[in-house]
Amino acid sequence: MLTFRTIKSLTQCLRGYRSSGLQVGFVPTMGFLHAGHRALIDESVARCDITVVSIFVNPTQFGPNEDLDRYPRALEQDHELCRTAGVNLLFVPDATEIYPPGFQTHVEPGPVAEPLCGAVRPGHFRGVATVVTKLFNIVQPDAAFFGQKDFQQCAVIRQMVRDLNMPVEIVTVPTVREPDGLALSSRNSYLSPADRERARCLSQGLLAAQAAFGEGERDSQRLLEIARSQMTEVEQLQYLELRDARTLAAVQSLVEQPAALCVAATIGPTRLIDNVLLIPP
Ligand code: PAJ
Repeated sequence: MLTFRTIKSLTQCLRGYRSSGLQVGFVPTMGFLHAGHRALIDESVARCDITVVSIFVNPTQFGPNEDLDRYPRALEQDHELCRTAGVNLLFVPDATEIYPPGFQTHVEPGPVAEPLCGAVRPGHFRGVATVVTKLFNIVQPDAAFFGQKDFQQCAVIRQMVRDLNMPVEIVTVPTVREPDGLALSSRNSYLSPADRERARCLSQGLLAAQAAFGEGERDSQRLLEIARSQMTEVEQLQYLELRDARTLAAVQSLVEQPAALCVAATIGPTRLIDNVLLIPP
């Protein structure tokens, strides 16, 4: 595995692979890698000839009072996980490599970025869309891999790729969970043992609603109530909503098209998100 800190050295190396006709897969991350990231990497390694992983804690997607400064970092372990997973190229730029002085152009997503996390984290998806565009332009991958865990992020990226004719296939990989259902997240490392215990109720609620859906429940209010009734350990439920899986439009009364049940909540000082898909047969 080769590690690059500059755009120039990475693109030089990639040019060689591309001219030999090799398919390039790309997994963008912010590091502190876990089995969720690993699932994305495994998918890329299985489908593509060359896998590129980036580790970059992107400042433009964090709000002024968010956790940019304390976002967990563990470059050595990340390096080891990537190496053993079969990653070929690791890209670890610093902030000025991606945002040199004078940087001023951003990618502004549309309505798909407005509800859910877009409403509680203003500017977040603008930062995500901008950095993902830059990384796509640098790596020029054939396919890029994103986790369903960040459901709205996937929707924003897919919309952006369609709208801006980006020549890349977007692959969504199912959410990897702990044995008790908690979705893996780098931010789980913030949870105290007591908060970790309480955090289970989020996935329990979502999975209970998904089970009810599987047994035929289609009423959106009922499904939301089933989920909410399990989420009693949460101080602040930022949102619990049913949204159309593609457009993210609110589901009015019955779930008749593929939908996502999405939650964001704070447990102690930690903000967590999760979702499940409800797909009518
Ligand atoms: P990060 O939070 O590091 O996540 C990188 C990728 O891993 C995302 O596509 C995310 O959805 C996926 N992922 C995280 N937890 C997962 C889980 N439990 N199961 C499956 N996939 C999981 O998302 C970002 O970084 C950034 O916004 C980024 C796209 C890199 C842009 O800065």
